[in-house]
Amino acid sequence: MSHDSAAIGVALGATRTGARLQRAGPFPFFKSYVQRSGNHRRQRAEAFAKAPTPSDLENAKAHFLGKSGRITALMKGLGALPVEDKKTQGAAINLAKQAIEAALNERRQALADAELETQLRAEALDVSLPGRMREPGGLHPVSLTMERIEQIFASMGFDVADGPELESDWYSFTALNNPPNHPARSMQDTFYVDINGDDGIPYNLRPHTSPMQVRYAHAHNKKYAEQVKSGGTLPEIRVICPGRTYRVDSDATHSPMFHQCEGLWLGENVSFKDLKAVFTDFCRTFFESDDLALRFRPSFFPFTEPSAEIDIQFQSGPLAGRWLEVAGSGQVHPAVVRNMGLDPEKYIGFAFGMGPDRLTMLRYGVNDLRLFFDGDIRFLRQFR
Ligand code: PHE
Repeated sequence: MSHDSAAIGVALGATRTGARLQRAGPFPFFKSYVQRSGNHRRQRAEAFAKAPTPSDLENAKAHFLGKSGRITALMKGLGALPVEDKKTQGAAINLAKQAIEAALNERRQALADAELETQLRAEALDVSLPGRMREPGGLHPVSLTMERIEQIFASMGFDVADGPELESDWYSFTALNNPPNHPARSMQDTFYVDINGDDGIPYNLRPHTSPMQVRYAHAHNKKYAEQVKSGGTLPEIRVICPGRTYRVDSDATHSPMFHQCEGLWLGENVSFKDLKAVFTDFCRTFFESDDLALRFRPSFFPFTEPSAEIDIQFQSGPLAGRWLEVAGSGQVHPAVVRNMGLDPEKYIGFAFGMGPDRLTMLRYGVNDLRLFFDGDIRFLRQFR
């Protein structure tokens, strides 16, 4: 707006000066300028308006105000005029120059505004778009099983303990009555790592959670050492230890990484009968079915004697009638009790190691263990 009025002012001034000029005498240069000043104004407006970018605009400006621009030429021409005319014509040229500068600034502003506008539009947020939903996550089916196992055993007075996945040879095998070179070591195809323990034997990725039997017993003894020293009794050990375990094994029912949950109940009068009662109760609660049969099938583990595999049988459903192995178990071997730092003449009990992956497959009717570890969200979201 301010530019328009300035331009009009210049136009008027120029016309008036021109009228006087014409009267004053023959100055062809100025005459022609004044006559063309209306044209200039139009050309100028057009040149500026057509400049699509700031650099085009600067070029257009040079046309008027540059070294060989029109205004510059007019200024140079002033020198040849009589003093009186110099004043009036000089003033007129200045006005014209100001008008050009105003027009120029206006266009500069318009270009800058347009650029800002484009930028804002490019960055515009469409607030009417539906938001990107963050879907509520869910626990992995095996985690659900772990939680369930923990709850059930906690309700029977069992503690829950965590242990290291990178384990020493002693805890994984020797402490469990499975000395180096014993043939029972080949029961598990173990992963070893390039780090040696204090005994010079490489650490292993624990092939079972059983090392936790001895680890937990040590911690338990330490915790109650004062109590025992001052004549008190050592409370019973009742614990489950869920966690990840590793073996060189891979097919539809075996994964190199899998889960186990160890159980240990050790006291002065804990028997195999208690193992049967506890495990039967656990299975019936876990599968929410009293219609479940358990079978303790004689087996061998270096760390239990006698030992048994625990099989379960559903009475109905798609698996009805089949015996399915869910755990290894047995009465804790006296040699292991000794390695726990306890007197095997006094302490006796049972241990079991079950497979939460297997339990999850049975509970949800999944037939391929690998599905649990593929991380396919379509599979996993079914368990939310
Ligand atoms: N650790 C044994 C396994 O991995 C299972 C087990 C645990 C057996 C405790 C007896 C007692 O097969």
